Amino acid sequence: MVVAAGRGERLGSGRPKALVSLAGRPMLEWSLATLRSVPGIERIVVALPVDNLHASPQGVIVVPGGEARSHSVREALRASGDGEPVIVHDAARPLTPPEVFVRAIAELKSSGADAVIAAAPVSDTIKEVDVDGHTVLRTLDRSRLWAVQTPQVFRRAALERALADAPDELLVAATDDAWLIEQAGGSVRVVDAGPLNLKVTTAIDLRLAELLLSEGAHDPGRRIG
Ligand code: CTP
Ligand code: MG
Repeated sequence: MVVAAGRGERLGSGRPKALVSLAGRPMLEWSLATLRSVPGIERIVVALPVDNLHASPQGVIVVPGGEARSHSVREALRASGDGEPVIVHDAARPLTPPEVFVRAIAELKSSGADAVIAAAPVSDTIKEVDVDGHTVLRTLDRSRLWAVQTPQVFRRAALERALADAPDELLVAATDDAWLIEQAGGSVRVVDAGPLNLKVTTAIDLRLAELLLSEGAHDPGRRIG
């Protein structure tokens, strides 16, 4: 499932981020091309903004996304059949190498966890601040901190249950689906996604993605980082 129904407000290009041109193709197309090269993927479901359903790419099932990201995931999951496991990926991560999907799927199988998520060890030291937004409360132990990304791979039953049981406030607040699994008491593991798994959030990210693509970041056998 590729969630592509966000508005892209922080990129501010006046159209949904997934449809913004990146190195000559809509951003969404880069992830779809990658997913088509991952062995064992039976079906691809894309959640698009309700006003952009006509932008439907070939060979995928399109569903209208929801107000929050988790609503888009829920809509896509309903249309995804009964394949196992299910993979959730952000259209905003166009450079994820296919091996990251393969590794996450393998880790789900071998670990017995309910979810496996791509992530990056944080390189900055992270401090928690008070509700005033500026007074430092504590410094966290960086060696145990990971920045959470997609793809996220789930046992279907665990994701279905987590989405069905979560109150709407939780769905609206959730910026990743693995959190819903944690809330429901499930087990979640991380795999290191490597340096190419950046998310296009702002204009500078788009420029960086363009640059990496021009240097072959999407070529088969790519090894950058
Ligand atoms: N997404 C979605 N449905 C939503 C919100 C987000 O499918 N209601 C998707 C986005 O299309 C994106 C991914 O979730 O692929 C990650 O979200 P984010 O990077 O926040 O993208 P946007 O919500 O589009 O950007 P912004 O928050 O700047 O508006
Ligand atoms: Mg968003």
